[in-house]
Amino acid sequence: MIKKGIILAGGHGTRMSPLTKAVNKQLLPIYDKPLIYYPLSILMLSKIRDILIIVNKGQLNQYKKLLQNGKNLGLKINFIEQNYPKGLPDAFILGEKFIGKDNVALILGDNFFYGQNLSEKLLESKKLKNGAKVFLHKVSKPELYGVARINNKNKIIGIKEKPKKYYSDYAITGLYYFDNKVIKYAKSLKPSRRNEIEITDLLKKYLSNKKLSAEIIGRGGAWLDTGSIEDFYKTSNFVSSIENRQGFKIACLEEISFNNNWIKKNDILNSIKFYGNCDYSKYLKNLLSR
Ligand code: DAU
Repeated sequence: MIKKGIILAGGHGTRMSPLTKAVNKQLLPIYDKPLIYYPLSILMLSKIRDILIIVNKGQLNQYKKLLQNGKNLGLKINFIEQNYPKGLPDAFILGEKFIGKDNVALILGDNFFYGQNLSEKLLESKKLKNGAKVFLHKVSKPELYGVARINNKNKIIGIKEKPKKYYSDYAITGLYYFDNKVIKYAKSLKPSRRNEIEITDLLKKYLSNKKLSAEIIGRGGAWLDTGSIEDFYKTSNFVSSIENRQGFKIACLEEISFNNNWIKKNDILNSIKFYGNCDYSKYLKNLLSR
């Protein structure tokens, strides 16, 4: 059972400059909350409470102001700074002490997941004992992502990072589950042509040992990567449409925590005081009368 999760929330965010010159991308709004709330909610829906957030050097205080040590959300949040964006597997090198002898989940700070049965899939995936597991989603522009080729039994047979020539339509999303070998494998990786250590090279190590499994997010599920400004607004619009139509919020952290029985009504009152008079607080007030 995986009990620890890492959110990789650093990076230069160059594609979104000047928005990201002074503020980290993951703190910018997706509709009514900072982007980081969405990947954090995914870990919380997986019932993972022990969390490490990796941030850019110099941006720790911004994150601490927002999330503190996680106690009011029923979480234990640790932070580590990354000196420069060395590549996604650096999460396991920086996080070695945090991971200890356990297995671990990794979610990229700019990834958004939504859909029916998602929580069930998450809870099922965190049962991983050995090997690694990824979530795949069909996309129309596979050249923008790491992709996996699968056979007719949905088994991964090959992986490529941002292939120039068509290889597969299945993007490897930014949610991964690993056994403890991930630390050793991450340390053995060599930088790629873009001078980063690549998550796809790490996954290939599991694939060559026949230890990589895949879960497919079907048409009923949404996966959005908020890498560019265009994607950022598309994701914001998506959240706004769903929230305004249903009256439920996506990624209300206090609501998830309350439903998990991690916090009490009093903690929600503290959050309302913390956020002040805003729509998010009004939503929290409604939770109190449930
Ligand atoms: O979103 C899924 C894709 O994420 C995968 O399909 C690809 O295989 C994977 O390489 C990755 O591709 P991107 O080009 O989208 O990754 P990006 O460099 O944008 O980084 C993703 C997030 O991780 C972003 O929020 C910044 C953060 N990051 C990235 C690096 C390289 C860090 O915090 N530290 C890093 O060293």
